[in-house]
Amino acid sequence: MHEPCIIVALDFSSAESALRLADQLDPRLCRLKVGKELFTATGPQLVEKLMVRGFDIFLDLKFHDIPNTVANACKAAASLGVWMVNVHALGGRSMLNAARGAIDPGSSTKLIAVTLLTSMNHEDITDIGLLGESEQIVARLTQLTYDCNLDGVVCSALETALLRQQFGNEFYLVTPGIRLHHDSIDDQKRVSTPMKAIADGANFLVIGRPISQASNPLEKCMEIYNGMGIFL
Ligand code: C5P
Repeated sequence: MHEPCIIVALDFSSAESALRLADQLDPRLCRLKVGKELFTATGPQLVEKLMVRGFDIFLDLKFHDIPNTVANACKAAASLGVWMVNVHALGGRSMLNAARGAIDPGSSTKLIAVTLLTSMNHEDITDIGLLGESEQIVARLTQLTYDCNLDGVVCSALETALLRQQFGNEFYLVTPGIRLHHDSIDDQKRVSTPMKAIADGANFLVIGRPISQASNPLEKCMEIYNGMGIFL
């Protein structure tokens, strides 16, 4: 069986809604992303329930704090047994090194970083004193993440090809903003198809509403794999 490269975003406020969707999916076909809203509302118990069902969990809590605090948070995430956890690259080198120190590179928990939030436009970036174009800032923060020996970054579909070229095949690129041609793009602005994102070098695709709001989420997963040329 192909390693599942789809990560379904569980953007819900209750355990019931998250479990209802999980129970319509198959851990052989997808992994699940638990973010700040769901984790704050439901805690580690829900993560455990999802793991008992066989799902790999990406705990998307984007830690950003002093190095010691982030290291301990990463340790706590790894001890939950999640498959992947993330921090903000903007936390800087000491913080990234501390996070890496807390989760052994050989651990089954992967450690990745968010570079720039894609919700930030040029004005937002300038407001906080970052100079330059967002592409340059993303490349710089990815270089820092790479130098600190993290396993990869979350990046927009538009950055994937360049980052793959620059950082080689071992570095994870996790890409949101994925839509099939006939899907609604919702509030995403820069989207890519599954086929293009994978061809550009993404390892994992984060997909929310196209799957969570589908009348048959599992069938939608299969349709997305078919769109990548993978027929299961
Ligand atoms: O529903 P949709 O497919 O747009 O959901 C995408 C998921 O990926 C959401 O959980 C969103 O928060 C997350 N995400 C994103 N863009 C980023 C980082 C994360 O859309 N740059």
